[in-house]
Amino acid sequence: MLKGFIFDLDGVITDTAEYHYLAWKRLADNQGIPFSREDNEQLRGVSRRESLRRLLKGREIEEATAQVWMEQKNAYYQSFLVGMTPNDLLPGAREFLEAARAAGIKVGLASASRNAQTVLDGLQISALFDILGDGYAVINTKPAVDLFVWVAGGLKLTVTECVVFEDAEAGIDGALLAGMKCVGIGPAERVGKAHLICAGLHEITVERVLALEI
Ligand code: BG6
Ligand code: MG
Repeated sequence: MLKGFIFDLDGVITDTAEYHYLAWKRLADNQGIPFSREDNEQLRGVSRRESLRRLLKGREIEEATAQVWMEQKNAYYQSFLVGMTPNDLLPGAREFLEAARAAGIKVGLASASRNAQTVLDGLQISALFDILGDGYAVINTKPAVDLFVWVAGGLKLTVTECVVFEDAEAGIDGALLAGMKCVGIGPAERVGKAHLICAGLHEITVERVLALEI
């Protein structure tokens, strides 16, 4: 039986995916590294360090420089988070979380971000989650299974009792590898491997997701 919903944050509950792009773009522009929206698709859902590796496309930099660049990117990103309010929730997000809880479903967050708590605070939805798995919870982030398994364990559920909601290919790969059902949010080219595809949480119902069990 499906008993737990595990949500990615960036690109599923709020559109911080755009802020991540703008922050990396600013760093890349400063350093004269070509970086397009298309390139950014490869960064979706993966950790800060892996994002930098992909942005560099084989360019080599010293470890100390990598640390400085990641800090700079994070400072740019955090400057976007300052003004976040519940108005930054994606359509249907709060309603879907509330409907899941009302149906007795346990709710967890599985975000690779180390800024997840700050984002949840801005959106004022921390209380809707039973457990928060973020970029501090595990070392191997998506596409590894670790974060999803960590959150399922925190919810006291087996992996087969959980459904993951993801906008990133890396997240969908991890969820499927963990043996979980998966709802993909976004275009089929990106999330096509998921069990159910939609444009956003406003498009689906808790009942439709629970029917994935059959
Ligand atoms: C994920 C985002 O949620 O978190 C990625 O989709 C991001 O784009 C990753 O790189 C790490 O985030 P942060 O906030 O710790 O740099
Ligand atoms: Mg995401």
